Amino acid sequence: MPGKDIPYPVKLYSLAPSGGFMQKRTVWCGEVTSEYIGKEVILNGWVQRIRDHGGLIFIDLRDRTGVVQTVVDPVKKPETFELAKDVRSEYVLEITGSVRHRPEGTENPNLKTGEVEVDITDISVLNAAKPPPFPISDQIDVDEVLRLKYRYLDLRRPGMQHRIILRHKIVKLIRDFMDAHGFVEIETPILIKSTPEGARDYLVPARLYPGSFYALPQSPQQMKQLLMVAGFERYFQIARCFRDEDPRADRQPEFTQLDFEMSFIKQEDILELMDDLYASMVETLSDKKLKFPKPFPRLTYAEVMERYGSDKPDLRFGMELYDLTDIAATTEFQVFKGTAESGGKVKGITIPGCANYSRKQIDELTEFARSFGAKGLVTMAVTEEGVKSSIAKFLTEEQIAAIVERAQAGKGDLLAIVADKPEIVANTLGRMRADLGKRLELVDKNELAFCWVVDFPLVEWNENEKRWDAMHHPFTSPHEEDAQYLDTYPARVRAWSYDLVCNGFELGSGSIRIHNPEIQSKVFKLMNYTQEQAEARFGHLLEAFEYGAPPHGGFASGIDRTVTLFTDDESIREVMAFPKTSTGVDPMTGAPSPVDQSQLKELHIKVVED
Ligand code: AMO
Repeated sequence: MPGKDIPYPVKLYSLAPSGGFMQKRTVWCGEVTSEYIGKEVILNGWVQRIRDHGGLIFIDLRDRTGVVQTVVDPVKKPETFELAKDVRSEYVLEITGSVRHRPEGTENPNLKTGEVEVDITDISVLNAAKPPPFPISDQIDVDEVLRLKYRYLDLRRPGMQHRIILRHKIVKLIRDFMDAHGFVEIETPILIKSTPEGARDYLVPARLYPGSFYALPQSPQQMKQLLMVAGFERYFQIARCFRDEDPRADRQPEFTQLDFEMSFIKQEDILELMDDLYASMVETLSDKKLKFPKPFPRLTYAEVMERYGSDKPDLRFGMELYDLTDIAATTEFQVFKGTAESGGKVKGITIPGCANYSRKQIDELTEFARSFGAKGLVTMAVTEEGVKSSIAKFLTEEQIAAIVERAQAGKGDLLAIVADKPEIVANTLGRMRADLGKRLELVDKNELAFCWVVDFPLVEWNENEKRWDAMHHPFTSPHEEDAQYLDTYPARVRAWSYDLVCNGFELGSGSIRIHNPEIQSKVFKLMNYTQEQAEARFGHLLEAFEYGAPPHGGFASGIDRTVTLFTDDESIREVMAFPKTSTGVDPMTGAPSPVDQSQLKELHIKVVED
C-alpha cells in the first residue's frame, strides 16, 4: 500500500489556474492511525460525507487508501468553520490539522483509522463537485449502464478501487514471475493482417491503400511463433486482444491475455510453469484455498466429457455423470432402448436431497434440458416409499435397482436421466450439473479448483461447412502416435493442446505447435485449405518455418477472467477499468459512433444501409 513513502517535510506546489498553493500531503487518509496522534498532518482527498453535529462539522475525507474522520470546531476556527459549511460530498479538499484520539465511546473498530480524528486547522477547497449521480459507496446497487456512463465515479468506490489495484498486483506478479523464469516481454503489433482465428476480426481501413484493411489481433499467436523462429526462446506479453464476437459475462470485444511461447519444451513444461504461477498468485494475493495442491490434476478431454459433460468442469463438487446405456438397452422403455440401439447414450446425474421436487420444479428441469437440445428428461425420485418415476411401469424392479445402484443414490435423491446423441447428453447433463452445483450451494466459494484438460481432439467436424475445423488452431500439433489417422480417422487424432480450468471456467489454453511442414500441410488439407489459400493466409509463417523453426509451444490465459476468480464477480466487466456494456457499447464516450462523411471519404468507404 502507498503511504509509507510520503516524504516529510512539506512541499508547496503551484495550483493552476487560480495561482494558489497546494501543500504536499504528508499522509494518506487511510493510514492515519494512532501512531500519528499529536502530529500535524496534511491530507488530500474527496469528501465522503459531511455532517453537522451540534455545532461541530465532521468531514470524512477519502483517498485511495481509505477514509479518515476530520472535524472543525467553530470556536477554535471560526473562519474555517464558515468555509466548511459550504463543502459538499465529493469536493476535493486539502485538510491540515492535528491528529487526536477520538472521544471515548466514539471509536469505530471497523475502520483502520477508527481510533483517531483530525482536528482541522485549515481547509483548502481544491475543487468543487456537482452532486454525483449515485453515492460513492459499495453499499448501493446502481444500474450498470449508469455506472459505465460515469465510470470515473464508479471507479471511486472502494470496492472498484480494490479490484483495479488487485488486477495491477496480479499483473505485476505475473511480470516478475515470467522475468524470473527467463521470459522476455516483447510488444507485438496491433495493426496486423487479417487471418481470422475463430472469431470475427475487427478491421481497420488502410487510408493509403483503398479497399485494404488491417485487422486488430485476436491474439498475438502468429507473432509469438515468429519470435520463436527469431530465437528468443521465451517470450511473454500482457497482450490486448480484439475479437468481434457477441459479448457475454465472460467475454468482451477487447480483453487482456498473459500470452507466452517457449522453444525446446514439451507440454508438461508449460503445465508445470503455470501450476507454479497460479499457485503462487493464489498464495500471495488471495485468501482462497487451492482445492488441489500443485501439480494441478491433469484430466483428458475424453475423461472430463465422460464424467462431467463439459470441457471446463467445476471440480469443487462431485455429482458426476454415470452411464446407464447398458441397463437402458435391456428395458422395454422405447426411448432408452431405441437410443441405446442406435448408438446414443443414456446417462444420468444424481441430485442430492431433491427427491421431493414438485411437478413445477421437475418441469423446469425438463425445460432446462430441452433448451440444450435434449428431447426430454426422465426423473426418478428415491423416496421412503420406493422409487417414483413416470417410466417405472416400463422397467422391472431389477432394472430400477440397477439404475439406483449405478447412480449411487440414497433416499431423498433425485435422478435426472437423458437419452440422446452422446454430445447432447453430455452437454445437457454437464450444464445441469454446473447450474445445480451453484443453486444447491454444493460449491465452497472459498475454494479454487484448478485443473488441466489435456488431449483435446485435434479437429472437430463442421457440419455446415462440411469440413474439419481445428479445435484449438491450425498450428496445433497432433500426438505423434495419432498422426497416422490424419487421413483415415481424423476425429480420433489427439492434439498436444491443453486448457487451464478453474471452478467451471476456462482460464486459458495453449498447445504445442506443428513445426514439421509435412504434418502442417496435412492439417491444412483436412481443413479444406488449398495450398494457395494456406499460402495467402499464413504464407509468412510457413515461409518463416523454412528457416529453422525450433520445436515450440505456448499458452495464453485471460487476465480478466483470472482477476474475477479472486473477486468472485460474475462478469469480467467488474475488473476492467473501462469495459463495454453487454451490448458492446461504451455509454461514457458513446463508442461506437458514426463518423464524419469526410473521414469516410478519406478512407474510400461508403456506408450502405441494408
Ligand atoms: P484462446 O482463444 O483460447 O487462445 O484464448 C485464451 C484465453 O483468453 C481468454 N479470452 C477472453 N477473455 C475475455 N473476453 C474474450 N472475448 C476472450 N476470448 C478469450 C480466455 C481464454 O482461455 N492464441 C491462443 C493461445 C495459445 O495457443 O497460445 C488463444 O488466444 O481466458
